Amino acid sequence: MKKSWLCILLMCGTVVFGQQTTTKQKLDNGWKFSLGHAADPSKDFHFGEALTFSKTNYLQENTLLTVGAALRFSLPYMPAFKDSAWESIDLPHDWAMRLPVAENQIKIKGYRTISGRSPQNSVGWYRKNVLIPATAKGQKLYLQFDGIFRDARIWVNGVYIDRQESGYTSFSYDISDVVSYGKDNLICVRVDATHSELWSYEGAGIYRHVWLLQKDPVHTKQWGTQVIAKLSANYKEALVSAKAAIENTSSSAKKLTVSSAIVDADRKTVQQKNRNITIEPYAEQLVQEEFSLKSPQLWSTETPYRYTLVTTIREGEKVLDTYATPFGIRAVEWTTNDGLHLNGKRIQVQGVCNHQDHAGVGIAVADELNIWRLQQLKRMGCNALRTSHNPVAPELLDACDSMGIMVLDEVRMMSSSEEGLRQLESTIRRDRNHPSIILWSLGNEEPALQESELGTQIMSRMKAVQQQLDPSRLCTAAMNGSWGKGLSDVVDVQGCNYFVLGNMDELHSKRPHQPLLLTEEASTVSTRGIYTTTKEKDYHTAYDHDKPGWGATAEKWLRYVDARPFIAGAFVWTGLDYGGEAYQYYWPGIASNFGIMDYCGFPKDAFYYYQAAWTKEPVLHLLPHWNWRPGDTIDVHCYTNASQVELFVNGKSFGAQTVNRLDIPKWKVPYASGSIKAVANINGQLVTEEIFTSGTAKAVVLEANRAEAFADETIIVNAKLLDQNGRFVPDANNRIDFEIIGGKILGLGNGDPSCHDPDQFAPGVQPWRSAFNGLAQVIIKAEKGKELVLKAKAEGLKEFELKIPVH
Ligand code: GAL
Repeated sequence: MKKSWLCILLMCGTVVFGQQTTTKQKLDNGWKFSLGHAADPSKDFHFGEALTFSKTNYLQENTLLTVGAALRFSLPYMPAFKDSAWESIDLPHDWAMRLPVAENQIKIKGYRTISGRSPQNSVGWYRKNVLIPATAKGQKLYLQFDGIFRDARIWVNGVYIDRQESGYTSFSYDISDVVSYGKDNLICVRVDATHSELWSYEGAGIYRHVWLLQKDPVHTKQWGTQVIAKLSANYKEALVSAKAAIENTSSSAKKLTVSSAIVDADRKTVQQKNRNITIEPYAEQLVQEEFSLKSPQLWSTETPYRYTLVTTIREGEKVLDTYATPFGIRAVEWTTNDGLHLNGKRIQVQGVCNHQDHAGVGIAVADELNIWRLQQLKRMGCNALRTSHNPVAPELLDACDSMGIMVLDEVRMMSSSEEGLRQLESTIRRDRNHPSIILWSLGNEEPALQESELGTQIMSRMKAVQQQLDPSRLCTAAMNGSWGKGLSDVVDVQGCNYFVLGNMDELHSKRPHQPLLLTEEASTVSTRGIYTTTKEKDYHTAYDHDKPGWGATAEKWLRYVDARPFIAGAFVWTGLDYGGEAYQYYWPGIASNFGIMDYCGFPKDAFYYYQAAWTKEPVLHLLPHWNWRPGDTIDVHCYTNASQVELFVNGKSFGAQTVNRLDIPKWKVPYASGSIKAVANINGQLVTEEIFTSGTAKAVVLEANRAEAFADETIIVNAKLLDQNGRFVPDANNRIDFEIIGGKILGLGNGDPSCHDPDQFAPGVQPWRSAFNGLAQVIIKAEKGKELVLKAKAEGLKEFELKIPVH
């Protein structure tokens, strides 16, 4: 089996052409983990009792206050500490998904037993030994964390390195001085997930990749390149400006040749420029080249073409460092009257906001799962993602680049404090070369600031920093009201959350100079397969109906935006459900109902309404299911892009209806066991959709998102319950037991926002999950071996065995 280019890009992080001088090693596997304690040092491996920040090594393990052999500590960040009792884990990791939920916990944390109310679960310790070869001596070593939630303290070989509070930014340290060459080196991280940065489930732990980079002392700085491509008025020529910050960390001046090459998707060098430079010891120099490209291939949502800038540093003939920067050539123009133009053509933003967590695994979302989530969104016709409300994993942005999904990249903090600007700067430096990013969002819903003088001052400073780091893009702030005031005067594009919170027509006429975008819209709440809102369960009808006061049904907001070309489009809150933010009845709800898809990425009915509106594919979807009680009267709705549709119940016509864009044909019909069938005309073609009454569940089947896998790859497996005729059972909730051979179960889910089944199981415990309305999901990881086998059993049901060859 061949690996796709996307996979290779995701694995390497950066592409390396020709001679490989810089190595990038993923440190995801082989960590040890233990819970500590956020309020009791004696249960937190003496953190808070030792001389943590005053002395290193031996002395840390003795409090000078209570010296005495009996009181000597053993500290986790010291190499001698014995971690054999700790759990062996691999990254990405989110320990909060293993924790139970309880009503007395904090709603926004999804009622998990974590936070100031559960200090015993809120701190986690990680340890890993890494062998650094003797040959690395004289090279520079960087330890890079792509994301830890949150408040991480980091040690290497007992030497304290730093504290990182942000749960969302990536950061990297030069650890060359604190490693022992030719030996094992201990990395230790203490993570404190007590506090929240958002108002939803945020997880806990080292949840993105960790990397060890080895570079020559002379190299291109990490996130130190910037490629800006400007297209001519006819889009036939591009001026590409390529900057690379070259760093000399050695003690002698260097005479170097820096070559900057633009390489196309077939890995052919399109243009190359060389430059000789002399760089002083411990100095940094910016190398800038300009290229003119005739008839460049453009990046767009349909053809997401990417070039790569390859920066190679040579000293004489010797290659010291190679650095690859994928980029795209496209023109993004925010117009005041006609929304967004991409490469000169209007494109309506058909976007979703998403949080980063997924059922079963929480924030520990493997790259393959992120890609799968994007594939579901793309299938729905979604062309844009708002990274609400935080920077995301870099691999997610790589995937958006290669799949043609536009991104509104958002920072977590609206702040011009040192910490706020540090987060802003690190996000922009890391992300600015992704062609998918069309706009920066510098804040979301800050009612206390968005209209005030303070807010204006803060945003002005943030925008200045953003402009300096990336003059090629504009910025917005997502405001829930106060439009036209405060922040509006600072940001380039007015971001409006929810059209009902103001008057966008008036705003547009009063401020004709400012492009408008609905940074958030809809917030409809619906539960997959549920057709009656049930307060006690926090379930919401899956008809396009329930919403909070600030929201709008899909039908309403899509019509609103369609009628107003000056609005660039909208980002639906949200693409998928997420943990926390149960709405509107809370407990026992522990996850949101806002998604167009549920927490597992199973489509709710709304999916098909958006698909009909956003794609040209023939869409014909009937709701609800057809398992009711005799005598019931049922509202049958149809989501379609047909021009006409007729409904039949058990063969009897209930009438044809003409359908215009966004219309929802509706019938009220008596229930009788059998089927409902829609017959439609879509672009001159006859299309039918029939839903049958099913029997009770008689079999479980498993469907994986891939037929074969490589070791360590994550696979998404959906479990379905079928009746005796192989028909899907839309109301079956049977418990399914799983067994895996040759792999690992990472997490389980079913899309029920109020389900309290465990999402993860301790090693050795048989995992299970109840289905919710016919479906469940198991996320598994392939291990080295010949074959992965996943067995699913449910009492009284035919079992299923899924086999996946692993390479
Ligand atoms: C918005 C907010 C989102 C989410 C949403 C729910 O006001 O920006 O984070 O809370 O409401 O409707």
